[in-house]
Amino acid sequence: MSRLVQRRDARPDVEKAPVVDDVGFKDHKPSRRSRILLPLAVATTLLLTAGTVFKDDLGFPWPGEPEVTPPFIREGMKRCAQLNQAPSPHQATEARKYSDRYVKGTGPVLLKNATLWTGEEDGTEVIHGANVWLEGGVVRKISTGEDMDQLFEAAKNKGDKVETVELDGAWVTPGIVDVHSHMGLDPMPELRGSDETNSDKAPIQPWLRSLDGFNTHDAAFNLSIAGGITTMLVLPGSAGNIGGQAFTFKPRWTAENTPQSMQAEPPFVIRNGEWQRTRSWRHIKHACGENAKVWYHNARMDAAYGFRRAYSEGKKLKDEQDAWCAAPKKQTGPLPDSLEWEVMADIIRGHVKVNIHCYETVDLNDLVRVSNEFQFPIAAFHHAHEAYLVPGLLRQAWGKTPPAVAMFANNARYKREAYRGSPYAPKVLDEAGLKVIMKSDHPVLDSRYLIYEAAQAHAFGLEWNRALASVITTSATVAGLDHRLGYVRPGYDADLVVWDSFPLAVGATPKQTYIDGIPQIINPHVVRKPAAAQQITPKGDYDKEAAEAVAARGDPDLRPKKRSPNIVFHGVSNLYLSGIKTQGEGEPGVVVVEDGKITCAGKDCATTSSAEYETVDLKGGSLAPGLISYGSPLGLEEISAEETTHTGDPPSILDDNKITSGLLVHAADGAQFGGKDELMALREGITTGVTSPSTGEFLKGMSYSFSLGARHALESGAIGNHAAALHINVRQFGDPLGDSSMSVATVMGVLRRLLHGEAGQGEVAAAFGKVAAGELRLVASANSADTIAALIRLKRTVPAMRLTISGGQEAWMLADELAAEDIGVVVAAPRTFPMFWDQRRILPGPPLSHLTLPAYLHTRGVKVGLGIVEACDARLTRFESAMAYAAAPTTFSRQDAVDLVSTNLVDVLGLNDGLHAAGGVDLGWVAYEGDMFSLTGRVRAVRSPGQTAVDLF
Ligand SMILES: *[C@@H]1O[C@H](CO)[C@@H](O)[C@H](O)[C@H]1NC(C)=O
Ligand SMILES: *[C@@H]1O[C@H](CO)[C@@H](O)[C@H](O)[C@H]1NC(C)=O
Repeated sequence: MSRLVQRRDARPDVEKAPVVDDVGFKDHKPSRRSRILLPLAVATTLLLTAGTVFKDDLGFPWPGEPEVTPPFIREGMKRCAQLNQAPSPHQATEARKYSDRYVKGTGPVLLKNATLWTGEEDGTEVIHGANVWLEGGVVRKISTGEDMDQLFEAAKNKGDKVETVELDGAWVTPGIVDVHSHMGLDPMPELRGSDETNSDKAPIQPWLRSLDGFNTHDAAFNLSIAGGITTMLVLPGSAGNIGGQAFTFKPRWTAENTPQSMQAEPPFVIRNGEWQRTRSWRHIKHACGENAKVWYHNARMDAAYGFRRAYSEGKKLKDEQDAWCAAPKKQTGPLPDSLEWEVMADIIRGHVKVNIHCYETVDLNDLVRVSNEFQFPIAAFHHAHEAYLVPGLLRQAWGKTPPAVAMFANNARYKREAYRGSPYAPKVLDEAGLKVIMKSDHPVLDSRYLIYEAAQAHAFGLEWNRALASVITTSATVAGLDHRLGYVRPGYDADLVVWDSFPLAVGATPKQTYIDGIPQIINPHVVRKPAAAQQITPKGDYDKEAAEAVAARGDPDLRPKKRSPNIVFHGVSNLYLSGIKTQGEGEPGVVVVEDGKITCAGKDCATTSSAEYETVDLKGGSLAPGLISYGSPLGLEEISAEETTHTGDPPSILDDNKITSGLLVHAADGAQFGGKDELMALREGITTGVTSPSTGEFLKGMSYSFSLGARHALESGAIGNHAAALHINVRQFGDPLGDSSMSVATVMGVLRRLLHGEAGQGEVAAAFGKVAAGELRLVASANSADTIAALIRLKRTVPAMRLTISGGQEAWMLADELAAEDIGVVVAAPRTFPMFWDQRRILPGPPLSHLTLPAYLHTRGVKVGLGIVEACDARLTRFESAMAYAAAPTTFSRQDAVDLVSTNLVDVLGLNDGLHAAGGVDLGWVAYEGDMFSLTGRVRAVRSPGQTAVDLF
């Protein structure tokens, strides 16, 4: 039976009126009606029973003006009304006392004495001593006085217990909104069975929906909540040009325990037994450039055609639908529709937020043209590493509001289209008047640390208010959620983060995260942060560098431009260098450098020659050893995705089982110098790289250390140690220096033979002989505690062996055993994340555990270094050490934190082994202006290894 009849029978009075009003059928003349009726009757014979038609025709049960509308017209009209209805989510106001996500039983919470960042006034409003009342899943009241009495009274009357939280001035912000996440779609730990990021069926598939692949068992939900993430736009991957529709989620587990219930604002819902469109925004993902080239052999020209083709399908459908809807009664067939293209039509109607992964100028331009050709607005270009070079182009996109730019702070250069990425891009785009968003692309970056992306953008030139807005207010706005998220306002969702410091301070960490008014972190571990970390910081002054980057179209000459052998540093507060004695008490104040050597440190130091000296005021800064970056292919490749920029991968020595006759590869033989990542790291105080060869089997070969400032291998100090340590991989996945394909047991068997001298002659056997004798260090990449335990067991049979674990994500489980065997650990990456099964048992650090992994290992007496697994991140090595320190200031001293990325790595990577130079490997030194443990600290001078002149920045 048709729904028409059912509905009339059920609720004649209620149902009839609105339907009639909606479609404007009230005043139909019988003649007109019969005109339509005739052809319609034919079309609907199958749908309507004869009895129904007669019943209507006879005017029962309403004599006089019977209404006869075939179901397909009524359905079509309903859909026309819906199609033409622009999204208009309900604006949250004070009147909103309950969230649609309110969980029954959630009691009121009063946060007292917050330093409240509200998001208002372009992100500059900060209310000191603010009290915030959360109830019904929303923010109910914000005040600076004691005027919460009414709310207390009401709560008492309802029998609700109010949880009062004294914040003592802690920073509070709205929850972080991440506009580019694959959480749930690519759940952790990564397993074949649940990676739903991309379909690989076709490059254009607007009909796919991320909601359909969203897995509720992602181990990252709670981790990201512990970083302040409260909402995310979950996009399909970027393998195809149109990967599908995106949906908004909150990472909080729900009682319903389903993907649909985790949505922040669903555009469609099951309501009253029907599938209904809500007034919320829809979202879609597009991607241009390299990915579709790789996955689908889609050249850029193919992609542009593919987009135009998809949009013309959408346009065609929209035109047909518009024509139908303009005269529904005249229609002889149902409303044209298409499961495949309806969303494209909806985009052209302006009802869908279009999010486009697009890096290079050519791609941005292609999509700007498509947006004008088909007249639809672009919500945001994502990644967009060249957007800062063409802000004017973005303004040419169709529509009133130019696209926002959703960026990484530093994740660049890994492929050609990312090669011109700049840390100053957020600043440049902001100054050009474009909306800047920092996003995670989780799990590309662990969204737990999205605030760190904003902090970096700030450190390299973005104003603090815009930097905070970039992950909170601006992101909420661009995701079409600013009617309820992104601000602290009465009626807005009670998604708040209480921070342990100013959120853009280095290592800022939530003390608690509220989602829908519910505290998410059970028994949070809180680190007391110093007063300095509570202050709003000035943006980094990089006007000159930014202008250079723009002028050079993203490829500036990064080589140091100013050198001097003789320098006098003033305003020096700290020295983290061993072997330099300060004259007199207290701060050194002055440090004199002559011919690149520190000749005097102390208030009364004077120059000794008549040569010219540069004078540099470090403004309370420090001198420290040059830092070491280890763990990425730094020095072996320029652009990861471009093989012609690599010096090549070594052959597997296990081919044909020729272990003993196999070649022992020395990474130093493939050393290349002067790359972008190297030079960008140099100006951040990293003087030395350590790299091993990469391989797909277990034996990598000999690592080497090298100077990031050298131009070629023959320069003085270019190579510090040609053959530092022997590196192997014991089935550690995601190792940029080569995943291992051999089983753990096979590797152990091979190692046993090699270490016990049962593998015959040859250079590989000889090298393992040296390892067994303790003359050469073995560095084994392994994350799993079980694998590490296997290595420890093996080491017990070879007592002289010196062993280091690289990776070590589960090493905390064996901390005491590692310490007992004097096995060092390079924690790589330093901020742990359960990306793969062999590293799922992480020690997450505050607020989820008392200590971080590096800090815990340190307390157990394990020698720890920090490793950086992506070459582009080498430049952030100091920040990693600063974060390790900030998270464990009572475990590490500042000197310890410097050691984590300098002298400890010298030891555990064997950099002094086999060296004849007195004093061991030369790391040079670095002079920092300001606090080197803050994001505002800045490198002013670098003395590279083996050099007598100092580079000034
Ligand atoms: C709020 O916190 C600040 C910082 O700890 C403190 O100085 C102030 O006295 C507190 N105010 C109240 C009313 O407790
Ligand atoms: C996530 O945290 C919630 C508390 O908010 C807890 O109930 C849940 O068990 C946690 N989930 C996992 C996977 O640890």
